[in-house]
Amino acid sequence: MTASIGRVVVLLGAPGAGKGTQAQILSEKLGLAHVATGDLFRAAVRDETPLGVTAKGYMDRGELVPDAVTIEMLLERLAKPDAEKGILLDGFPRNTAQAEVLDKALADKGGRVDVAPYIEVPEADLVGRLGGRWICRAAGHPYHEQTKPPVTPGICDADGSELYQRTDDQPATVQARLQQQLGALDLVVDYYRTKGVLKVVDGRQGIDLVTGDLLAALAPANG
Ligand code: AP5
Ligand code: MG
Repeated sequence: MTASIGRVVVLLGAPGAGKGTQAQILSEKLGLAHVATGDLFRAAVRDETPLGVTAKGYMDRGELVPDAVTIEMLLERLAKPDAEKGILLDGFPRNTAQAEVLDKALADKGGRVDVAPYIEVPEADLVGRLGGRWICRAAGHPYHEQTKPPVTPGICDADGSELYQRTDDQPATVQARLQQQLGALDLVVDYYRTKGVLKVVDGRQGIDLVTGDLLAALAPANG
């Protein structure tokens, strides 16, 4: 890890809750490095690295990648210089073991999780969000067929790259992800509630309203 670490925000939410959508907006507004373990895994799968070969089977089955692999990847990412400006974590931690490792790694550098906003969305809404999602090849900018269509179909508004559907957004894999991951998420939410840093945000609202609530939750007086 870098010699020092700035503000650390942990964005929590179920698959499809809107973590990636909001993390891209918030990281830019707040000047934080956006660290998304799912994006790191997808880049490794695309590049066919040993990490990607290991991760692919778990991701395709909708399971969490084993902690040892995930934690090593996350700690390597946090060692990069941009972590000094502060980080916004998206998709990590996914279980209490990961949460404990993160706390220890941050404490070693005099840091801590400042705030853990939880974008709460009912399970029934998540399937439609994931089934209609398209993301861009260049930077993972997320779109949705109904709620956030791109200006030109199939093309990213932000960078002009091609839009595609994630293989784990197939209906059977979506069911597996929800079935296997929601229980662990509940425990992580409880973990941060106990630490006194949890902020629950109503994720059923439109994207802009969710952003507004998250910014309020992240305001220094609340952090
Ligand atoms: P990851 O990539 O982290 O996926 P996830 O947690 O399942 O979450 P998603 O990226 O699917 O959803 P999101 O919350 O980012 O929603 P989005 O903003 O895109 O992980 C993938 C896999 O990698 C895991 O299954 C696991 O195998 C592995 N992995 C990753 N991290 C790991 C870890 N720490 N440990 C172990 N394994 C790990 O939005 C979804 C859709 O909804 C979009 O279409 C969007 O346009 C739309 N939308 C967003 N907000 C709204 C809104 N307010 N109203 C209406 N529509 C909205
Ligand atoms: Mg995401």
